[in-house]
Amino acid sequence: MLYYFLILQWDGSVEKDFHSLCRIGLGLLFLFQMLKGKRVIVTGASTGIGEQMAYHLARMGAHVLVTARTEARLQKVITRCLELGAASAQYVSGSMEDEAFAEHVVKEAEVVLGGLDMLILNHVGNSYFNYFDGDVGHVQKLLKINFLSYVAMTVSALPRLKDSGGSIVVVSSMAGKVGFPFTAPYSATKFALDGFFSSLRQELAIQKADVSITLCILGFIDTESAMKAASDVVLVPPAPKEECALEIIKGGALRTRQGWDKGVQFCASRKLATLSMSLLSLQDTNPCTPAPAAGSMAKSCWP
Ligand SMILES: NC(=O)c1ccc[n+]([C@@H]2O[C@H](COP(=O)([O-])OP(=O)(O)OC[C@H]3O[C@@H](n4cnc5c(N)ncnc54)[C@H](OP(=O)(O)O)[C@@H]3O)[C@@H](O)[C@H]2O)c1
Repeated sequence: MLYYFLILQWDGSVEKDFHSLCRIGLGLLFLFQMLKGKRVIVTGASTGIGEQMAYHLARMGAHVLVTARTEARLQKVITRCLELGAASAQYVSGSMEDEAFAEHVVKEAEVVLGGLDMLILNHVGNSYFNYFDGDVGHVQKLLKINFLSYVAMTVSALPRLKDSGGSIVVVSSMAGKVGFPFTAPYSATKFALDGFFSSLRQELAIQKADVSITLCILGFIDTESAMKAASDVVLVPPAPKEECALEIIKGGALRTRQGWDKGVQFCASRKLATLSMSLLSLQDTNPCTPAPAAGSMAKSCWP
């Protein structure tokens, strides 16, 4: 619990008065209780935000199954999860480019966890940060990893999630809401997630299926890959991955959805929510701004 107080203090946005701290403490206690003993899959958990989500879930006493391609990294992640208090920790390694692997991960969770309460879809394939180079094959590959595997895992997991009244958490990006330059293939995959999962959420509601879908719209987060790609071209400071990971889990546990109907969207950081809104209004008021040269990306944003 102390760890979570510290995370919230680092954010600097929490009033440090007694009532605020009590409210946060009760909220965290509630979150811990909600996730204790829950069976959760986290994809793309060998590094970055996914790894941090695995650690938060472990501290909360969840059963964690992590996946990515790099087996050695996954082994370290599950060792750490067990040290942190996970009810259990397992991994399955493989590539989400392969639809059969995506389905296999869900089946494995059914076998080793005996069901599923939360599916956190977070992995992302490598792409480039530059003018679209016309490589259709790359777009197809990225669609397989960033979009089709999300669909395949969801299809496999839905029966179990319906049984448990569970949750699907989809990690997306500002680039899945607004078209920024130099991210065309990545942006396409993130827009696809929004269309598919926003529609599916409504279908589940019509069918009265007790499964929530949370779409997380992230800005710039300080993961190693994002810092490498964009730290010298993005003006805004990145949000900490630990905090972002916690906000994503909170969104899923509280069954928050992205609600355009209420004019509200779930952003995995209060700081980023502000940033997102300013970027959106920038886009709205000035849609015809000529694209900057690839080398002068300082005025753009990281997806
Ligand atoms: N960081 C940001 O600024 C930012 C901004 C907006 C949105 N997001 C979103 O947040 C999520 C996490 O981003 P991140 O920055 O934490 O990324 P990251 O550190 O690069 O982690 C990506 C994860 O995906 C896994 N992965 C990559 N290719 C894979 C494949 N073919 N099959 C299976 N797993 C694969 C990687 O592990 P292996 O290499 O071991 O497979 C790794 O665990 C992504 O959905 C991203 O779009 C991030």
